[in-house]
Amino acid sequence: MSEFDLIVRGGTIATASDVFLADLGILDGRIVQIGENLTGAGRIIDASGKYVLPGGIDSHVHVAQPSGEGIVMADSFESGTLSALFGGNTTVMPFCLQEKGRPLREALTAYHALAQGNCYIDVSFHLIVSDASDALIGQELPALAADGYASFKVFMTYEDLRLSDADILKTLDVARETGATVMVHCENEDAIRFLIGRHERAGEVSPRAHASTRPVAVEREATHRALSLAEIVDVPIVIVHVSNGEAMEEIARARARGVKVIGETCPQYLMLTADDLDGMDWEGAKFVCSPPPRDKAAQEECWRGIETGVFDLFSSDHCPFRYADEQGKRNPRGLKSFRHIPNGIPGVETRLPILFSEGVMKGRIDLPRFVALAATNHAKTYGLYPQKGTIAIGSDADIAIWDPSESRTIRHVDLHDAADYSPYEGIAVTGWPTTVILGGRIMVDEGKLVGEKGAGAYRPAKPRQSRHNTNTMEI
Ligand code: URP
Ligand code: ZN
Ligand code: ZN
Ligand code: ZN
Repeated sequence: MSEFDLIVRGGTIATASDVFLADLGILDGRIVQIGENLTGAGRIIDASGKYVLPGGIDSHVHVAQPSGEGIVMADSFESGTLSALFGGNTTVMPFCLQEKGRPLREALTAYHALAQGNCYIDVSFHLIVSDASDALIGQELPALAADGYASFKVFMTYEDLRLSDADILKTLDVARETGATVMVHCENEDAIRFLIGRHERAGEVSPRAHASTRPVAVEREATHRALSLAEIVDVPIVIVHVSNGEAMEEIARARARGVKVIGETCPQYLMLTADDLDGMDWEGAKFVCSPPPRDKAAQEECWRGIETGVFDLFSSDHCPFRYADEQGKRNPRGLKSFRHIPNGIPGVETRLPILFSEGVMKGRIDLPRFVALAATNHAKTYGLYPQKGTIAIGSDADIAIWDPSESRTIRHVDLHDAADYSPYEGIAVTGWPTTVILGGRIMVDEGKLVGEKGAGAYRPAKPRQSRHNTNTMEI
């Protein structure tokens, strides 16, 4: 009988703190030994010349989520997790959306049914609070947090989703009581409505106006307000998808006041600008997301935030819609205005190759920082650590083996999501995760799918109270 099920031999292992040469011994889905010259396994993977990293955790992913105006998100759990897998991920955290006036449990039951048996990698859910009723705040959320649903997203924008400051305060307060973590989408909806009215009256209705009606001030103000609300309640907070330096300054200043804040940014804010929304024939719709991509200077500011630690999380905010539906479903009012374009772009498969190529290969960040931004910090922030997000004895054997010499040009035809375009089409990257292991099972072997749908499982999260650090967000 072999000592191990699998050995990963001779690779350069990186965690969020160290880089070293070693073999990994894997048994029953976990890492059980890290050492030299390991032998005795049913299967040995030769990883020499490769990087052996924790599987990516993308903690900001939308799949199979209803999205207003009858528009359907392109990815199911099946296609979304397959795409994530090929991008070097072993866990994604999608959002379960509460239907207004309905219990969240109802949405969760339906969401679990969609995921069950259909996932290529592990999943853990965030809850979107759209209706902060007394029953939700008083009973449901505390019970759900204890059951492993320990992160809530609240929106300050989108007519149908936004919460009032009063409701955000209530949600933050229940997070303080239960050890859940609140993620906030920071944009001032009233200001956006005002600017949309102005643009439509002036006949400015093309996709580009999406960016003009959501300027930096809209995001900066809401970021400041969200941070102040968290400060008042005295609870940690996550500011998601930060797009520019002024919002980053708010995060840094709040941190200096003692607010426990985690900042997240995404590939779109490093690689795209508002000019991309200017495409001919409504093609700018392919780049409509909120907050919108800004300009070259903001890209540099976001890189600085990645390098200096303003940002702890690098997520895709994968939110895929098909472009080909644009003439019909995506804009049922006949392309009359940008405001009917669904917000969100695909990117779960390209997130890590972009960060690796632009960040590690270009010398902006080192390998441990890459691992922290790709996996470790996500697991720590959302209560999956140390089972997930690191390479350590006892941790799940969720591993991505990266070939740093593999050069590719991003083409949507090579990706695995169910959208019909990539916003990163034509971008050349160096480094790709060629072999991916989930819980000790090889899922992608040298670029080929060998694992099965259903290999991924639901993973409950631990609220802060039950972790070793209570009421802190140490990363
Ligand atoms: O435009 C975006 N970001 N769509 C996804 C939903 C969200 O706000 O995160
Ligand atoms: Zn958002
Ligand atoms: Zn304008
Ligand atoms: Zn999102």
